[in-house]
Amino acid sequence: MKTQFHFFSIDRLAEIVPAGKCIVITDKNILFNYEQQLSPFTKIVLEAGEEEKSFESLNLIIDQLIRHEADKTTALVGIGGGVITDIAGFAASIYMRGIPFGFVPTTLLAQVDASIGGKNGVNYDHFKNLLGVIKQPDFILIDAEFLKTLPETEYRSGLAEIVKYGLIFDKALFNLIQKNVKNILEKEKELLEEIIHRCMDIKKAIVEKDEFEANERKILNFGHTIGHAIERIERIPHGFAVSIGMAAACRLSEAYAGLSHDVTFQLTDLLIKFGLPVISKTDPDIILSNLKMDKKKRGEVIDFILIKDIGEPIIVPIKPEEILSFQRI
Ligand SMILES: NC(=O)c1ccc[n+]([C@@H]2O[C@H](COP(=O)([O-])OP(=O)(O)OC[C@H]3O[C@@H](n4cnc5c(N)ncnc54)[C@H](O)[C@@H]3O)[C@@H](O)[C@H]2O)c1
Repeated sequence: MKTQFHFFSIDRLAEIVPAGKCIVITDKNILFNYEQQLSPFTKIVLEAGEEEKSFESLNLIIDQLIRHEADKTTALVGIGGGVITDIAGFAASIYMRGIPFGFVPTTLLAQVDASIGGKNGVNYDHFKNLLGVIKQPDFILIDAEFLKTLPETEYRSGLAEIVKYGLIFDKALFNLIQKNVKNILEKEKELLEEIIHRCMDIKKAIVEKDEFEANERKILNFGHTIGHAIERIERIPHGFAVSIGMAAACRLSEAYAGLSHDVTFQLTDLLIKFGLPVISKTDPDIILSNLKMDKKKRGEVIDFILIKDIGEPIIVPIKPEEILSFQRI
């Protein structure tokens, strides 16, 4: 991956891209909180939220790029959550067949996940991420200070993803998170930077091995199969649904991968301490019918990502109806 990674303050963004050579894409919430830091830059400002990850917003961005006479020497910088990094990366990848671009992710989810790996795109109608490309950004700047203004729900949603990285890839990271719940909830900057760094390294290593999601990259979907079904049904934040999905995947792992119940207990205990849900309110039958429509289904089975132990993921094909025996999804 040719991306350069920087861990420093947004105040030093101009050291990576001179203000005169770049256009920032951001949203209204970021601008409201960081107006002073963004003042030197030409900006394209979207409304906040998933609805903005649309073809219409892309049109608006392209119109503005033309108006600002952006060319192949202009760098586009997406400053925001995953919505902004996804659409900014896509716009930069298609404008003039590709101009330089970088990200300053401002949510925990975007710092450890959405900004890394090169998947950029927009939704179309009700199809999520239907249009997009895989193209790596030139740089990613991480500034953990952003997390201080992040709404609590968004922060907790991101915590589910860092727990996922520890659980499926890195026992030492999982232990570090377990030991530092209070400091993490208090957003202690150095600790968060260390955790973000380790999560990024994990995702980078996986993407380097499997950029186009043929195999290893699928492992990152731990907790997401059931999680996505619950997200669609209950309309709860992504990380909250993933949290329930991870707890369910651990219970499945006990049955299909010999996982010790103690690990399921450790995981649910940690998620609960982070204020995340571990049990769904939805009738399992409804979750089942939703799972049957999963686009990742292969014939009768879905490839579930399970764990044999902390840091030991495996892929196990399971028929959706079989998971009904685990009533407490
Ligand atoms: N490309 C990928 O590999 C990948 C991976 C995971 C998720 N995603 C995408 O990421 C998107 C979700 O991203 P998200 O969870 O970051 O949500 P988001 O981008 O919608 O941001 C969440 C909210 O927080 C606000 N916000 C962001 N940073 C802030 C800050 N520092 N202070 C105050 N407010 C702030 C935003 O304005 C928004 O209202 C989805 O569209 C998803 O598809 C992409």
